[in-house]
Amino acid sequence: MAVDVRIAVIAGTGVYDPNIMTNVRDETVNTPYGDVQLSVGNYRGKPLAFMNRHREDHSVPPHLVNYRANIAALKKLGVKSVIATAAVGSLNPSMQPGHFIFVDQFLDFTKARQQTFFEGGASGVVHLDMTEPYCPELREILLQASKSLGFSAHPAGTYVCTEGPRFETPAEIKMYRLLGGDLVGMTSVPEATLAREAGMCYATIAMVTNYAAGISPTRLTHQEVVDMMLQNGENIRKLIMQAVTWIDVDRACRCQRAPGLTGSE
Ligand code: HPA
Repeated sequence: MAVDVRIAVIAGTGVYDPNIMTNVRDETVNTPYGDVQLSVGNYRGKPLAFMNRHREDHSVPPHLVNYRANIAALKKLGVKSVIATAAVGSLNPSMQPGHFIFVDQFLDFTKARQQTFFEGGASGVVHLDMTEPYCPELREILLQASKSLGFSAHPAGTYVCTEGPRFETPAEIKMYRLLGGDLVGMTSVPEATLAREAGMCYATIAMVTNYAAGISPTRLTHQEVVDMMLQNGENIRKLIMQAVTWIDVDRACRCQRAPGLTGSE
């Protein structure tokens, strides 16, 4: 198994191409939560892991993603910085389809997910600080990378995480807007929180694929979300590549001081 991989990409809907890397090989990483398939390769000399959140054939819906296994597998490889991609619907008129948002907060409306590595007993009890749920340093790198590439980007935004897999009702979207949500998606929780429990820096490239239900003039389909992500795939790839170039693999950050997994579980 490859170790000493410091940077990982968790690719969401519409981003399936690990071929930004050279010397790509497929690996299966065993964790106490299940086995995880991912690719490991190099980008400009940096070892990089690439994982499809929903598998390559999009066969795993958001509520059934094995978030704990995915994060534990990255920890086992030695990953310190995770860049995730996420297709999102927009509740905020200034966050338009095709825009990137480097979200800084979330509202958690998930219902039935394993939220922690720490289930009491031998694994202990951990109450995680979530003042800054997404790594400010990685978000800044992503923002500068997107500026350098001339993309439309927002430095912050509040991601509403729903349980899915259905889209929302217009009444729910109205409620999320009143609560301060900007974007809606189905995967950032518990991925972001588990990454913090594992002491890894984590940031999300949220890309708006549609206006949310009741704001969009049309009914939503999964296909339009996928099509929009594929259309913008090249931009997402460029953004990831630029950010990876700028991430210092040995950087220390307060995210990495959170209590948590050692990687040898
Ligand atoms: N709702 C939830 N998740 C999404 C959406 C949406 O409108 N668009 C992309 N992912």
